[in-house]
Amino acid sequence: MRILGIVLAAGQGKRMKSKLYKVMHPVCGKPLVGHVVDVLDEVNADRKVVIVGHGAETVKAYLGDRAEYAMQAEQLGTGHAAMQAEALLEGEDGIALITTGDTPLISADSLGAMIRQHIESGASASVLTAMVDQPFGYGRIVRNADGLVTAIVEQKDCTPEQQWIREINTGIGCFDKHKLFQALKQLKNDNAQREYLLTDVFGILAEQGDKVLGYCTADATEGMGINDRVQLSEAERVMRGRINRRHMLNGVTIIDPSNTYIEKEVQIGADTVVYPGTFLRGVTVIGEDCMIGPHADMTNTVVRNGTTVQHSVLTDATVGEETAIGPFAYLRPGSRIGNQVKIGDFVEIKNAELGDGTKVSHLSYVGDAVVGKNVNIGCGAITVNYDGYNKNITEICDDAFVGSNVNLIAPVRIGEGAYVVAGSTITHEVPAGDLAIARERQTNKPGYADKLRQRFKAIKAKKQESK
Ligand code: UD1
Ligand code: CA
Repeated sequence: MRILGIVLAAGQGKRMKSKLYKVMHPVCGKPLVGHVVDVLDEVNADRKVVIVGHGAETVKAYLGDRAEYAMQAEQLGTGHAAMQAEALLEGEDGIALITTGDTPLISADSLGAMIRQHIESGASASVLTAMVDQPFGYGRIVRNADGLVTAIVEQKDCTPEQQWIREINTGIGCFDKHKLFQALKQLKNDNAQREYLLTDVFGILAEQGDKVLGYCTADATEGMGINDRVQLSEAERVMRGRINRRHMLNGVTIIDPSNTYIEKEVQIGADTVVYPGTFLRGVTVIGEDCMIGPHADMTNTVVRNGTTVQHSVLTDATVGEETAIGPFAYLRPGSRIGNQVKIGDFVEIKNAELGDGTKVSHLSYVGDAVVGKNVNIGCGAITVNYDGYNKNITEICDDAFVGSNVNLIAPVRIGEGAYVVAGSTITHEVPAGDLAIARERQTNKPGYADKLRQRFKAIKAKKQESK
């Protein structure tokens, strides 16, 4: 049976009080609508039609060719939104699977189970429901004595008795496609909201004798709809919990899961320990036996086995095995760090390759550089890569030694095994094996320190006299 996914994402989301359209608000780093489309992919939906309106261009730019789009120019309600998919789905037969764009926590397991029950029972419509303690704001599920759904009643249309119903509409349902569009045509907006409500379709079908079922999720959090920032933060907490739990069950130690922020796509190897205050974002991949954090903030970064990253920020970087990063290092885009490297405190790396065994232990800037293996870069040494117009390359070959507080004025090359004396400002190539010294020669004046002090004292005394 073909599955025709429809995502309702045209609303502005007034209750968010935001310049950003509601379905674009992120949960664990990914927009709400992105999570919903992910789940449609997981249940192998044959079509994915996203109904757009407010922020249509933003939503389309974000989802790209993952979906097809139908425009709802005026937001006249969820039923009206669903109608906009009809033209695109012309000629299709199968199950129309409608999801709201603001339910990021729904799982493919629940959707799949609802669809299976729907097919096996020969129902015309099925709604995914959840049993919650705080049903306020959700549509309530009304069932008859046989347990069949007879209607869904919106909060504003509830009678006092219906307000007590704890089984709610998650906003997700599946329908025989033809029956859906036939029932949508009968919708009226004679309700408290003056809108064409998708929820009324269930009542219309039940009334005309069609079988309408409810499938209740085992986990009530799956049904959470995000209408305001409080619900957004709750969804974040639930999703964070799920992601962290998955990693822990895969063999990752997370010291304090409530204080560890890992996005959905991140991969982490077994026996890695993640310390509190850590953010792992984007397509970050961490190997086995690593120590990450406390306070590691990594985006789109690859870290191989046995590496340590403490109190550091890494973006679009790759780091080899058994390397130590931090505390307080900053690896900017294009940092390519080898195995058994040490990047110590207050070191910044940008667009630079560092070979195996190299050490940059303290207070350095290495930018636009190619650094070989087993190089030692002393405290305070920097690449002077920018002359105000161009970014120039510094090359430091294997086994070279760069002393403390050296300035390497790029473009410049330090040959294999060369030795650059501390405090030097290097403007020319240092050939392999050579020693370079480029600093003012020191002169000592014997006994002069005390003379100088006497002179200062005399000046001070004179000043005080004249006051
Ligand atoms: C809706 C359901 C409610 C359910 C709840 C679950 C209806 C009438 N109500 O209420 O029963 O318990 O979701 O979270 O369906 N949208 C459009 N076009 C419109 C109106 C809405 O595309 O004209 C989209 C919104 O962008 C949103 C989704 O539909 O993604 C749901 O709309 P929303 O206003 O959030 O509905 P709720 O009041 O939460
Ligand atoms: Ca909602």
